[in-house]
Amino acid sequence: MSSRWTARAHSKVNLHLGVGDAREDGFHELATVFQSLELHDEVSFTPGPETEIVVTGPHAAGVPTTPDNLAWRAITAVAAALGKPEAATGTLRLTKNIPAAGGMAGGSADAAAALLLANQALSEEIGCAPVAHKMLYHIAADLGSDVPFTLMGGTALGRGRGELLTQMLARGHYTWAIITNAEGLSTPSVFRKLDELRAAGRGSSPHLDTEAVGKALVNGSPHELAAAMHNDLQAAALSLRPDLRKVLDTGEAAGALKGMVSGSGPTCAFLCEDADTAHEVVAQVCADNRGTRGLVTTGPASGAALVE
Ligand code: C5P
Repeated sequence: MSSRWTARAHSKVNLHLGVGDAREDGFHELATVFQSLELHDEVSFTPGPETEIVVTGPHAAGVPTTPDNLAWRAITAVAAALGKPEAATGTLRLTKNIPAAGGMAGGSADAAAALLLANQALSEEIGCAPVAHKMLYHIAADLGSDVPFTLMGGTALGRGRGELLTQMLARGHYTWAIITNAEGLSTPSVFRKLDELRAAGRGSSPHLDTEAVGKALVNGSPHELAAAMHNDLQAAALSLRPDLRKVLDTGEAAGALKGMVSGSGPTCAFLCEDADTAHEVVAQVCADNRGTRGLVTTGPASGAALVE
């Protein structure tokens, strides 16, 4: 019988998200600082003759159970790289704790975890050597801009469309209040909105200098980090979803050092001095804003990792 393999898929925040011009391939040139969070999905894969995708957990709603799920596409890509595309069959289970379509790379993280699972499980099944780690990063970049970082984890500078990674020195451990929203936001529409705002002479000009966040991370001070955090996509996300302004204001009034739209939103991430403040931020934001849910997590965490 085939063995079942399990992995953790960690979410991320962008401590800095600088967005340059749109490129010819439609992607935008980024200068971003990623940090992985303890908040994670659990992903498991058991090779077998039938294909089944089962999604459970508090944020399962809306996650596809069809083969176009990014995590399943990761399994297919690994089977092809192992030289046996027909081996990509079995049961994939996702326990979703990361909000879907929320700007926390939940789908990307599941795909990164699935890359590790498929590499382990299918190479054992086929009886061949696993795909080299470097090759997994290439496959990850093909799957999506955030997949390589969710594979790597920790704290990293992302250039290109986010896939060219350099690990950063980061001291300190940070506490986050995360506020999710019942209604998601599509990433392409937020990037498009930023282009529109800029074409009209509005919207944030590209902030491609990550030095302030880099220095704050070397010093390990949450106050300094709060002052340096920036997201070029925030104005566009707020333009599409004006309700998020109140979420940010309530969270900061409740004691957060800084609140920011996470990635392309609509999730908002609040950097807090300690866990008590973070819980207070969650309580007050959720009491004052319909359709929101909250949780407290910390970073940095690891990248996708197999669980013993
Ligand atoms: O790479 P990924 O599939 O996650 O990107 C989703 C969408 O987000 C892209 O199709 C594009 O519209 C937008 N995007 C972008 N520039 C980036 C990353 C994503 O415009 N660097």
